[in-house]
Amino acid sequence: MDTENLRIRKPVADDGVVIHQLIQSCPPLDVNSTYLYLLQCTHFAETCVVAELNGKVAAFLSGYIKPGNSSTFFLWQVAVGESLRGKGMARRLLDAVLEREACHDVCFLETTITPDNQASWALFRSFARDRQAELTDQVLFSTAELGGQHEPEVLVRIGPFQNKPFA
Ligand SMILES: CC(C)(COP(=O)(O)OP(=O)(O)OC[C@H]1O[C@@H](n2cnc3c(N)ncnc32)[C@H](O)[C@@H]1OP(=O)(O)O)[C@@H](O)C(=O)NCCC(=O)NCCS
Repeated sequence: MDTENLRIRKPVADDGVVIHQLIQSCPPLDVNSTYLYLLQCTHFAETCVVAELNGKVAAFLSGYIKPGNSSTFFLWQVAVGESLRGKGMARRLLDAVLEREACHDVCFLETTITPDNQASWALFRSFARDRQAELTDQVLFSTAELGGQHEPEVLVRIGPFQNKPFA
């Protein structure tokens, strides 16, 4: 990866349309509306990350601090453009968001994964391994709860882990 031309930063409203297109190109992610991505790029910018390669958005991670629980970062979606995969980009985005002041109190990571998303399971197992943290899983939303046309969403919880010092 040409890291000289790589910029990891908070998203801004101008990224919303391109992020929407990136998510469309990254199955099996659920594609939300452009409006939703605009909210993430603005209201939730402190807990979302964009990777810009040669001036173009190439990867995106969204998440938030779980309401009422400042020790838990909930990762909503992470998408890495196909040509960039397998090079540590998703891990970089995750480390980058957790280093921010907004994640000062975070020592647990939660996300949901569908059972057959091998790349996603590998990503979070890799994170748990490197942070020497326990990983537990249980179904959060069943197929029936998701309307019958969707794989179950399994809640993965990782932690507690030591978060890095903040800049
Ligand atoms: C899941 C996804 C974000 C991973 O991004 P990535 O940048 O390729 O992941 P990384 O290179 O940071 O890899 C992190 C770890 O996962 C492993 N991994 C990544 N993709 C893998 C795959 N397809 N099969 C097996 N292991 C994989 C890597 O080997 C690495 O493990 P390691 O630390 O033991 O070497 C990417 O495949 C993607 O965008 N998929 C489509 C969208 C999606 O499913 N998102 C996740 C659900 S929100």
